[in-house]
Amino acid sequence: MERNELIQEAFKAMENAYAPYSNYHVGAAVLCTDGKVFLGANIENASFGATNCAERSAVFAAYSNGYRKDTIEALAIVSDGGRIAAPCGICRQVLSELLKPDTPIWLSNGRDDCDTNMEELLPMQFSQEDVLR
Ligand code: THU
Repeated sequence: MERNELIQEAFKAMENAYAPYSNYHVGAAVLCTDGKVFLGANIENASFGATNCAERSAVFAAYSNGYRKDTIEALAIVSDGGRIAAPCGICRQVLSELLKPDTPIWLSNGRDDCDTNMEELLPMQFSQEDVLR
């Protein structure tokens, strides 16, 4: 599956966003090495801190089905915002643990695009190496 196809999958996931508070819709799609795709959307909550972002939903779905960083090939994240949505701070911490530093992360809002990875998004991260010393 190519970059643009995975981005299209993320746009499909965005249709399932549950965002009654922000009305800001985000979708994500994880491509695994065997071709399987896991989707995620942002799922909000009246207790705002309980909200789950789209990229965490998608990566948690992949992990919940047995996939790990070695079997994840790419992540696409899209939004309906006026500019591309880069992952929030909490997601950067989560993704830095669950993706390889150089796994491609493709961002789009349908107009602008940006290709990045965790190495770029979260340098000097607090990681497993700090805890499991
Ligand atoms: N959101 C995501 O799903 N991913 C991001 O990277 C940025 C923010 C969601 C959380 C919340 O539901 C809405 O966007 C507005 O913050």
